Amino acid sequence: MAVLDQLTSQQAIDLENKYGAHNYHPLPVVLSRGEGVYVWDVEGKRYYDFLSAYSAVNQGHCHPKIVDAMAKQAKTLSLTSRAFYNDKLGEYEKFACETFGFDKLLPMNTGAEAVETALKLCRKWAYEVKGLDENTAQIIVCENNFHGRTTTIISFSNDPVAHKNFGPFTNGFIKIEYNNLQALEEVLEKNKDVAGFLVEPIQGEAGVYVPSEGYLSAAKALCKKHNVLFIADEVQTGIARTGKMLAVDHENVKPDILILGKALSGGAYPVSGVLADDHIMKVIKPGNHGSTFGGNPIAAAVAVAALEVVRDEKLAENAERLGRIFRKELAVFAETNTLVNSVRGKGLLNAILINDTEDSSTAWDICMKLRDNGLLAKPTHGNIIRFAPPLVMTEEQLMDCVSIIKKTISGF
Ligand SMILES: Cc1ncc(COP(=O)(O)O)c(C=O)c1O
Repeated sequence: MAVLDQLTSQQAIDLENKYGAHNYHPLPVVLSRGEGVYVWDVEGKRYYDFLSAYSAVNQGHCHPKIVDAMAKQAKTLSLTSRAFYNDKLGEYEKFACETFGFDKLLPMNTGAEAVETALKLCRKWAYEVKGLDENTAQIIVCENNFHGRTTTIISFSNDPVAHKNFGPFTNGFIKIEYNNLQALEEVLEKNKDVAGFLVEPIQGEAGVYVPSEGYLSAAKALCKKHNVLFIADEVQTGIARTGKMLAVDHENVKPDILILGKALSGGAYPVSGVLADDHIMKVIKPGNHGSTFGGNPIAAAVAVAALEVVRDEKLAENAERLGRIFRKELAVFAETNTLVNSVRGKGLLNAILINDTEDSSTAWDICMKLRDNGLLAKPTHGNIIRFAPPLVMTEEQLMDCVSIIKKTISGF
């Protein structure tokens, strides 16, 4: 069999199982095409994508404007490394800084790399600006966080699947309960060597935990009081997903360091970055940090197109409006359906809590049935199902999806 022949789903699954490391447990569906809110499997069956590659495909699959920008740049100049300047990076940096209101952008590729960048930036700032003694800086993180997969990042994960047997771990992190201002204040009062507070404005991977209203703004104020950097990881929540350009915008919070990834490229290409103002970013000097691909011309062209699509198609407004409809519909459904405990979320980042034990297979079984009925979603932790469709969805499509979800769950 030639590799380029069209495979059946089973053949594709068998190949991945045999030759690929088993570091994921995918839902058994093999996709070969995407357009807008839809994806198709190799047998031609169409599905609503209700995951959007973990919120990377906010602009919809294969958005023509993003694809055109990528193809045009790929044919012109793809990679120079940062050993030389390229004619696209500066334009992108300016556009991103103006869009998010910061002085400078440090471009990277994946979300985890951007988180690592933010941690390094925060530590260096702590020694060179705040004046902490070398190697003493602590960064506060939250329980049940998800910030990526590098050795340092998993050092402060409390998910045993993510960290067991990957030690020894990186020091310098203090874990507190999420959505607990008192815990944050206590650590800040007690420790004079705290450099930053790293937080997800909504904990996505943990199961779409939305903190209490006012948590982010109060946390930012506490950080300011103690001269500690407030670092927002908006890799999953950013770029219009929660109904505003950034999830921190719901509380008018400007982070000291902003981490972006995923939908910064509309899912077309790995693009991530860290934004900060000059008084923080200035600590980074040539040779301190970098990446061969970070800031490459394709990434720059794609990111500009992706951000323009979000702005021009008013995706934040659409996410806000459709999110409200979605939660209302499912909340009413949950009142009469014993399998759905509750629905929560913001914008089009939502989840339902299934009324079963965490180790039950019910959420997985529901996702399998949703797949059969033409909608793709995935459980996050045990009995939670995340619903995060592309933000280009129309109300009519959303109502179609709501009826698929209701019909599927009612059938259990
Ligand atoms: C909040 C958050 N930070 C960081 C990451 C890591 O991003 P990546 O998988 O691109 O490394 C993720 C991925 O899901 C995330 O949700």
